[in-house]
Amino acid sequence: MNRPFVAKLSTCSLALLFLALPLSAAEHPGYIDAPERRTTGIGKFYMGREIAFVMGHQAADWLNRPERIEEERPDEVVANMNLAADEVVADIGAGSGYFSFRIAKLVPAGKVMAVDIQPEMLALIEHQKAINKISNVEGVLGQIDDPNLAPNSITAAIMVDAYHEFSHPFEMISGIYDALRPGGRIFLLEYRGEDDSVPIRPLHKMTQEQVIKEMSVFGLEWTDTLDFLPWQHMMVFTKAQ
Ligand SMILES: C[S@@+](CC[C@H](N)C(=O)[O-])C[C@H]1O[C@@H](n2cnc3c(N)ncnc32)[C@H](O)[C@@H]1O
Repeated sequence: MNRPFVAKLSTCSLALLFLALPLSAAEHPGYIDAPERRTTGIGKFYMGREIAFVMGHQAADWLNRPERIEEERPDEVVANMNLAADEVVADIGAGSGYFSFRIAKLVPAGKVMAVDIQPEMLALIEHQKAINKISNVEGVLGQIDDPNLAPNSITAAIMVDAYHEFSHPFEMISGIYDALRPGGRIFLLEYRGEDDSVPIRPLHKMTQEQVIKEMSVFGLEWTDTLDFLPWQHMMVFTKAQ
């Protein structure tokens, strides 16, 4: 997550720019309304964890901060996706496209579907596309409970520092699952919830155990965890053939 959620940084107040969403736990039986919300939480629980607020587009600059190269090693992340040149990859919760554009370079005969619920984020992506003349990144305006991807249309999906803030995680993974072709992979990167030394607020981290629990609802197989990142897990889930 970006600096708003780095607990140790005094600048965190700058990024308390969150998107207010009309939320209710009534939609899915796995959701529970909490009597009180924690700081940076929305007061809605899914499978035992409180969902975090969505980071507002006003804080988009933080997603492109130079320190992120050290903290999150984005080029190594995309290299470890082992993509074929013709893959169609959905970057869900793409933000400003920090990962979308890196992935696009690796799929010259394929494309990246950059999905976000904030039109302002998609506008930033369009701006970058125009400046750098990139034609294989496609912005997709998602909904809080639907990635708006056609069934069977993607070979892989990636979510970086985003899943924990989906207000409707069940519906989102359901939509991603349907969009994924058989044998397709989901790359899920979250800050390590098991590791107190990772200086990120608790609701913006996830444990592997929690992620596996939530993905197993869909029969997604946990096929790998790459632990080369300083603060995050890079978890891989695979849809059966
Ligand atoms: C913290 S940002 C991370 C952006 C990007 N993945 C990165 O690492 O730079 C999380 C993004 O997820 C988006 N988001 C939140 N809920 C979403 C949903 N249900 N569907 C798609 N995007 C969502 C937010 O709008 C925000 O741009």
